[in-house]
Amino acid sequence: MKPRLQIDWDVTWLDEVTSTNDAVLNAVKSGCREGTVIVARTQTRGRGRRGNAWHSPDGGLWCSLLLRPELRADELWGLTAAAALAAVGGLRNLTGLPVGIKWPNDIYVGGKKLGGIMAESSGGAVVVGIGLNANIGSADLPRIEWYPVTSVLVETGEIIDPAVLLEGILSEFCERYGLLVEQGFSGLLGEWRELSVVLGKRVRMECDGRVFKGTAVELDGQGGIIIGPQDGTRRRFEPRPGVSLGLEASDGERAKSP
Ligand code: BTN
Repeated sequence: MKPRLQIDWDVTWLDEVTSTNDAVLNAVKSGCREGTVIVARTQTRGRGRRGNAWHSPDGGLWCSLLLRPELRADELWGLTAAAALAAVGGLRNLTGLPVGIKWPNDIYVGGKKLGGIMAESSGGAVVVGIGLNANIGSADLPRIEWYPVTSVLVETGEIIDPAVLLEGILSEFCERYGLLVEQGFSGLLGEWRELSVVLGKRVRMECDGRVFKGTAVELDGQGGIIIGPQDGTRRRFEPRPGVSLGLEASDGERAKSP
């Protein structure tokens, strides 16, 4: 996979932070360079999409990357996709698990959520947060009403080295970041579709308080998803706040989405 963008990663491992995204947002304010990465053993106020709390006990990989991308505002969303693809690549290489992506930012395996990505912009920089349930036993996983949750440990019975996982993810990220900068989101589209766990599946979309049910028929070159036809109409949704996708119950999720 070419082209590749070289980033000289500067990784700091911390014991405990509120949120690695907050720590890197502070680094942005201090003028830290692209490639700054903060990893924490635990987060006391880990954050997920849509204002959800992100349970971050010891054993997970909780990290955030500082990027100063030369991308248009409408291309920035591709960084979430690049990070999701990198996380999937890193996990697959290290564990062999058939991990995939539940549009737009969830890392899934066997119908269960293993992790997620959350990007935030600040003053021209983008902070990409990656949260993966790595060495977390089932007793320490959160019970979420809307979807089942799992970890690498639960799926494989094995402990992995978080530093090796992070190194793999950062290396995979450089390839996708390079493609994104050079070709735009269309450079990621083939792999984005290939690794999707929703394409062809029955889904339930919540968008600004309304619910749409149907089959996920397409992922387009602008990061959108097309769902249809329920009543003869196809609908397109953007990956933005206020939009939430759930797999229908038969595919391992409850009937509601978060
Ligand atoms: C989601 O699925 O809602 C996204 C979850 C993102 C969690 C990660 S953990 C590292 C970084 N710090 C945070 O507070 N959130 C992200």
